[in-house]
Amino acid sequence: MLIKLLRKRRSIRRFSNQAVSRQDLDLLLEAALRSPSSKGINPWEFLVIQEQETIRQLATAKPHGAAFLKNAPLAVVVCADSSKTDVWVEDASIAALILHLAAADLGLGSCWAQIRLREHDAEKSAQEYLSRLLNLPEQIMVEAIIGIGHPVEEKPGHSEESLLQNQVHFERFSN
Ligand SMILES: Cc1cc2nc3c(=O)[nH]c(=O)nc-3n(C[C@H](O)[C@H](O)[C@H](O)COP(=O)(O)O)c2cc1C
Repeated sequence: MLIKLLRKRRSIRRFSNQAVSRQDLDLLLEAALRSPSSKGINPWEFLVIQEQETIRQLATAKPHGAAFLKNAPLAVVVCADSSKTDVWVEDASIAALILHLAAADLGLGSCWAQIRLREHDAEKSAQEYLSRLLNLPEQIMVEAIIGIGHPVEEKPGHSEESLLQNQVHFERFSN
């Protein structure tokens, strides 16, 4: 049941150096390619990165919040072709989330590193940095990088009491 997985799901940023198997990688990519997308346009492009040096370079895509990637044996750069649809952000976000959930379902840990709207340094956006690093054509936009691996940290799922029930409204917005 998906709800059981969701009760346990957490973002995992610490990984062992064990590689993600080819079988698990294939399942992750199948899951991502089964993502829903607006009008079924399927604008995503997924870059599978396993070379350690490239992963190290992904980890410096932005000054904060991407460093955890350097210890991930696998990173998937989730992109979309912005010339195909005006809702590529939503489509790419859904695919990124599906990768995160599929990883959890396989007993792997993963975490999202936000790239869209983030800066690499004073001169360049994280997008510009990655476009150069990964040879991305101009219309290919990066939403996020999902770092994936075998977890070496355990975190409890969010408790029932911590759920923000006050942010759910029935019929009308209520204070
Ligand atoms: C849109 C989005 C952007 C995120 N960006 C980052 C990021 O750049 N770096 C990072 O370490 N975690 C990032 N995260 C993970 C969140 O920090 C994490 O989901 C949140 O703290 C809740 O923790 P949990 O996923 O364990 O429940 C991002 C998550 C989302 C959904």
